[in-house]
Amino acid sequence: MRMYDIISKKRGGGELSQEEIQFFIDGYVGGDIPDYQASALMMAIYFQGMTERETANLTMSMARSGEMVDLSSIDGVKVDKHSTGGVGDKTTLIIAPMVASLGVRVAKMSGRGLGHTGGTVDKMESIPGMKTALDRETFFDIVRKVGVSVIGQSGNLVPADKKLYALRDVTATIESIPLIASSIMSKKIAAGSDCILLDVKTGSGAFMKTVDDSVRLAEAMVSIGEHVGRRTVALITDMDRPLGNAIGNSLEICEVCETLRGRGPKDLTAICVELAANMLYLAGHGSVEECRGLAKGQIENGGAFQKLREMVAAQGGDVSVLDDNSKFTQAAVRREIPARKDGFLHAMNTEECGIASVELGAGREKKEDPIDFSAGIVLHKKVGDRVAAGESLATFFTSSQEKCNEAEKLFRTAVQISAEPPAEIPLVHARVT
Ligand code: URA
Repeated sequence: MRMYDIISKKRGGGELSQEEIQFFIDGYVGGDIPDYQASALMMAIYFQGMTERETANLTMSMARSGEMVDLSSIDGVKVDKHSTGGVGDKTTLIIAPMVASLGVRVAKMSGRGLGHTGGTVDKMESIPGMKTALDRETFFDIVRKVGVSVIGQSGNLVPADKKLYALRDVTATIESIPLIASSIMSKKIAAGSDCILLDVKTGSGAFMKTVDDSVRLAEAMVSIGEHVGRRTVALITDMDRPLGNAIGNSLEICEVCETLRGRGPKDLTAICVELAANMLYLAGHGSVEECRGLAKGQIENGGAFQKLREMVAAQGGDVSVLDDNSKFTQAAVRREIPARKDGFLHAMNTEECGIASVELGAGREKKEDPIDFSAGIVLHKKVGDRVAAGESLATFFTSSQEKCNEAEKLFRTAVQISAEPPAEIPLVHARVT
C-alpha cells in the first residue's frame, strides 16, 4: 500500500477502506508517514468529506492507537459526557454527582481551558488539595466506592489525535465535521464508558457558531457511537451567552455549590437537569421525562451535593470550601462594571466575555501560563434583562487595576444594550439520537 495512492483516492472523492485508514494511522503514529503527506490527506478529507463508515473506521483506528481504558472491573453502567467547550460551562461538576448519586458510574477524564473557554480540570484545581492526576487504580477505586471521579487526561490515550490535532491546527483543517467528530469520539471511546452524552455547544462562544453546523457535528458523532456499539445521545445547547453567572475557576465552583443546593441560576440549573436526565436515560433509568424528575430530586434532597463532597474528599480536596465558599482565596481587586445607558441587555458576545476573563487571569494565553484561580467575572445581568444606567452589569475579580482596565474594554465591546428586548433563544436547540 502507498500513502500517495490513499491521498489521491480521497482527493478524487473515493471511500477509503478500513485497511487504508489503518495503514495511514499506523504509519503516521509510527513516524513512517511524514507530516506533508498526512496534511495532504487532511486537506483532501476537508474538501471531500467522509462517509459514515469511513468516519467510524477512522475513529476506531485512532482510538486503538494508544491505551484503551477497560472499565469492566467497575460494576454498573458507566456513562461519560463531553462538552465541545464554552464560557462558564461548569456542568460536569454538577451533573456527574447528580447522576452518580442515583447509581450511574462516572469515570471521567476532562480537559484544561483552551483559548477563551474554561476547563473542568482547572476549575477543580481551584479547590485546595484537589488532585486531578491519579493513577488508574486509585481512579477506578474512587469510582467503585464513591460512584464518580473526574481527573485530567492521563496515560497514552489516542496518540493519533494528539499528532493529527496539532497538524490540523497549523494546516487550516480543523473545521471538518468528520475530522472533529472522529477526534472527539476516539477520545471518548478510548476512555471506556458504555454510553456517551454529548453537549454540543452552539453560538458566539462555541466552536460551532450555527445550530445547523452543530446538528451536523452531533449527527456525525452519534452515528460513530452507533457504528461502534456505544449508546450516544447529543444535545445542542446554547452558548450565545455565558452559562450561569460565574466565569472563572473558584467563582464557578461557588456557583456549582449554589446550584447543587437548589439556589443556582435558572439557565444553568435547567441545562444541568436536561443533561443529567439524558445521562440517566442512557443508563436505563426510564424515559427522559422520568429522568428529569429524578435529576431534580437529587438537587432537592441534597444527594447530589453530598456526592460532590464525597468525590472532592476522595481526591484529596478541602471539603470545607464547598460548605463555606468564603474560605476560597479572595481576589485582591474587585470592580463593578456599571451600565452606561438604560435599556435591555440585547446580546453578549460570549467569546469576547471569555477573553475578558482570561485577561483578568482566569485562563491561559499560552499552555504554560499560570492561572489565577480567584480571577474572573460574575454577571449580574443576563441577555434579556432590563438595565438602568449606573446599575452594575458585572463584578470583575483580579489581581491588578491594569488587568481590570483591559478586561473592561473587552467586556464593554461584548455587551450590547438596546431599547428593545431581544428575541428569546432556547437553552436546548435540539436533541440528536
Ligand atoms: N475538539 C477536539 O477534541 N477535536 C477537534 O477536532 C475539535 C475540537
